[in-house]
Amino acid sequence: LEKKSEKEALRVCVTGAAGSIGYSLLFMIAQGRMFGPYQKVILHLLDLPTMKKALEGVKMELDDGAFPLVKDIICATCPEAGFKNIDVALLVGAKPRGPGMERKDLLRDNGNIFKEQGEALDKYAKKTVKVLAVGNPANTNALIASLNAPSIPRENFTALTRLDQNRAEAQIAHKVGVPVENVNNVIIWGNHSATQYPDVTHATITDYPAEGFVENAKSTLCDKWLKETFIPSVQKRGAAIIAARKFSSAASAANAVCDHIHDWLVGTKPGKVVSMGVISDGNSYGIRSGLMYSFPVTCHKGTWKIVDGYKIDDYSKEKMQITEKELIEEKSQAVGK
Ligand code: NAD
Ligand code: LMR
Repeated sequence: LEKKSEKEALRVCVTGAAGSIGYSLLFMIAQGRMFGPYQKVILHLLDLPTMKKALEGVKMELDDGAFPLVKDIICATCPEAGFKNIDVALLVGAKPRGPGMERKDLLRDNGNIFKEQGEALDKYAKKTVKVLAVGNPANTNALIASLNAPSIPRENFTALTRLDQNRAEAQIAHKVGVPVENVNNVIIWGNHSATQYPDVTHATITDYPAEGFVENAKSTLCDKWLKETFIPSVQKRGAAIIAARKFSSAASAANAVCDHIHDWLVGTKPGKVVSMGVISDGNSYGIRSGLMYSFPVTCHKGTWKIVDGYKIDDYSKEKMQITEKELIEEKSQAVGK
């Protein structure tokens, strides 16, 4: 955001603030990674009452960082104090999955958290609050929260698929041998789950290190590699991290949360498309309305717009429908329709 040190600090709530993602995320926000180097913040750290002591420890460490952008830190163990007057809600607090589970297996337990938090946001947060669901299953949890917060616009609720986009763009960059910032506009369609469709059809790679390099390297991105290696590996990257670390991704998730909120609130760069789980309007790419589906979007100062008009081939269409079907099933499990 532009220089506004004299203006009001943003109130930003991180739920699950005593958990793994919270521990990375809070320090990234404090360093200016989310809102830029001038925007002050008041951090609301919300977790369960059993985590009160741990929350105080996180606050002590944030204090010890002496971060110029952090105007105040509030520790909360009830949604009223956590959500009071907030501008941004980062809904991280939820159970993570373990080995052998799919994210949707968490719906029964975590869905209730998002119902309660939707109701609490409706009561206590600013009506302009921008909400990002991170706790899994993130798309359906975002939908549950929005349905329980009728006084806040649906467009203000989003789900995190930016981690999938970052994973996909990093894998393409490694494969071709270009710096990761040279790869742009890989799209994540649908659910943050193993049915998501990472789509390179509309992606761009900037030539590097010399003209013609990408043209030559493109043969490495053959159909076989894309379909048999790239797509499944992005779809299952979360599980691969759990298998390796015994815990789910944390720092890379926090990093993606910063990317998502930064681009949404500040705006996407000209020509840059990012993926976000947003409420479908029924007019975009044939996806049923009322699902929290990940689409390609551009953003401008707190608003997002689905990028229209990409030509969708039969292969992509089928993949987009598979992940749509899963979201329809999750929605019906969560809210009965
Ligand atoms: P964690 O177990 O380390 O921390 C979760 C924290 O949430 C705990 O401190 C817990 O006490 C707290 N919590 C639980 N219920 C709460 C409630 N009702 N209100 C406030 N706090 C509550 O887990 P983690 O590794 O930080 O992961 C959190 C969630 O994020 C998991 O569901 C995980 O699957 C998900 N995740 C999503 C993505 C994504 O890309 N969407 C990426 C990584 C992780
Ligand atoms: C991830 O993608 O790393 C997270 O959603 C955690 C998980 O369960 O895979």
